[in-house]
Amino acid sequence: MPRKIIIDTDPGVDDTMAIFLALCSPELDVIGLTTIFGNVHTELATKNALRLLEIAGRADIPVAAGAVDALTGPFEGPVPTVHGADGQGDVFLPDPAGSAIELSAAQFIIEQLRANPGEITLAPVGPLSNIALALRLEPRIAEWVDEVVLMGGNALVPGNASPAGEANIRNDPEAADLVFGAQWQVTMVGLDVTLRVHMGPEQIADYATHGNPMSDHITRILPHYRNYFESNYDAEGIFVHDSSAIAYLLDPSLFSVRRWPIRVGTQGLGRGKTWPATGGRLLPAWESRPPVNVCVGVEGDKVVALAAERLRRA
Ligand code: BDR
Ligand code: CA
Repeated sequence: MPRKIIIDTDPGVDDTMAIFLALCSPELDVIGLTTIFGNVHTELATKNALRLLEIAGRADIPVAAGAVDALTGPFEGPVPTVHGADGQGDVFLPDPAGSAIELSAAQFIIEQLRANPGEITLAPVGPLSNIALALRLEPRIAEWVDEVVLMGGNALVPGNASPAGEANIRNDPEAADLVFGAQWQVTMVGLDVTLRVHMGPEQIADYATHGNPMSDHITRILPHYRNYFESNYDAEGIFVHDSSAIAYLLDPSLFSVRRWPIRVGTQGLGRGKTWPATGGRLLPAWESRPPVNVCVGVEGDKVVALAAERLRRA
């Protein structure tokens, strides 16, 4: 039986790659996409999610629109320099034919988990506002979920949205602190590993040879994203953030994990930093928090190869 997952996403170039990887993987059954602000505003994230499912020929999968702001304040705004003004590398796709369902993202998550206890994994690859809202509305989702495998955070390395914080967590640190503190199994696939999953020019070029709509779309949207990385990092090509969380679901043996409780900085310069309690006696702020599976090592080349192989066979 394939594993049921809901991807909570802010598409986003690397979100697109992650969604397509999941759709191409027989081990996974994507039962819905829920959308969130981050790389773009939520309204555009929702349109993009619908468009991506249409490109993949999977318009049967429901899309539920999520929060437009963080739990405690307004969304600070999109990042067109990274993902393009359209979140899709400035290729400006036509409007989707379909539309989002009536339920909000949080309501959809709750309904699905209630109806399928123990069967659904949440895979958030954007800010965690929808997941936190769902937890607030129905705390029992922590019992009903299989697990939560998220892209976000930085345990032992610097941030990317600030020296302290990774972009998804920094966009809603209060939500992230709720998600890491709930009594469910969370796996954090953060910058500690995603900045070691590198796709070089040859691997990018190979997607153009696959000859299917998903790989063709990835080939179209990657140049803008690649330009951002090549202007800001000392490497040719890109780093693969969101697909790494999907790769963890497909083959966790590619990752090494430490189990630490996590708090999230919400104040000042440390806002958005994920703080693991890595040793010694737990301070009160970390007590009674569950251990999080924090990915600290990865066989990056194998993750990149796994994703390429799945897309090639699509
Ligand atoms: C995360 O932030 C977004 O820009 C990406 O889509 C990814 O989810 C990386 O920090
Ligand atoms: Ca994302």
